[in-house]
Amino acid sequence: MFVCPGERMRNEVRSMPGVFNLSVDEAVKEARETYSLGVPAVILFGLPEKKDELATGAWADGGIVQQTARAIKREIPDLILIGDVCLCEYMSHGHCGIVRSTPQSLGAAVAAPPAATTEYEIVNDASLELLARTSVSLARAGIDIIAPSDMMDGRVAAIRKGLDEVGFINTPILSYAAKFASGFYGPFREAADSAPQFGDRRSYQMDPANIREAMREIELDLEEGADIIMVKPALPYLDVIAAARERFDAPLAAYQVSGEYAMIEAAARNNWIDRDRVMMESLFSIRRAGANVILTYFAKDAAKLLA
Ligand code: PBG
Ligand code: ZN
Repeated sequence: MFVCPGERMRNEVRSMPGVFNLSVDEAVKEARETYSLGVPAVILFGLPEKKDELATGAWADGGIVQQTARAIKREIPDLILIGDVCLCEYMSHGHCGIVRSTPQSLGAAVAAPPAATTEYEIVNDASLELLARTSVSLARAGIDIIAPSDMMDGRVAAIRKGLDEVGFINTPILSYAAKFASGFYGPFREAADSAPQFGDRRSYQMDPANIREAMREIELDLEEGADIIMVKPALPYLDVIAAARERFDAPLAAYQVSGEYAMIEAAARNNWIDRDRVMMESLFSIRRAGANVILTYFAKDAAKLLA
């Protein structure tokens, strides 16, 4: 669920029919309906009031996800709440970590105007503190499972330490362990208003062509204390899901992402495919590949069919 400030807001995402930006009151209604259909858990993404260079909206105790978590827990305490932990939705530049500009070489500076030659880098280790702070704030608001999606190195260890230090020793971490730099996230970035303003995410997300690097990332996250590991996207990476299931014993999740959802919805709207049939077939394939948990925008509709 994508939650936003305001009241009685239910704005459909253009590229994700059936998915909405919801104000807190509407998110509570949606959560109630979802739970009644037999879906055990929902993940929350936030659209903050304001974005800045420190992602304040991510870790503020009055942040939009924190408000929503409190409201849902009050009404539907048994619905498991997963908090996506990332900074991109809350950063003015839209990257998943802190960004600083790096001094360019003198030659480049002379050859072109400054704006065109400025180079940027993600400051990995400084970002970890904000991720840990965000996780603690979400746990305080009632989030049951912390799900870091930023792909900074060392974030699982930093978050575990941050949670443990303030007593959340039993709050599990669902790590987006193998998250690829994917074109399939396009509709999400519209839904969460989180497209990077410059550059791309290839310096921190995984190379789609490289499965060994993905395995190494999963292994490191498990060493750092991840309780559940996740592969993302799902359908174009079924081999990665299957390889991870073979190799690691932790519970394995797969994220059927926004672009996967949008493609099925778009084709179905043209009557080019049978929506429900393709929806279930895609979910079966993810399950068949070895995922124990599936994160999908089809959750409500799939639950209805399964019932
Ligand atoms: C935030 C985040 C993204 C997604 C989940 N968490 C976007 C991104 O990394 O660009 C994508 C999910 C989807 O496409 O459904 N980092
Ligand atoms: Zn991000």
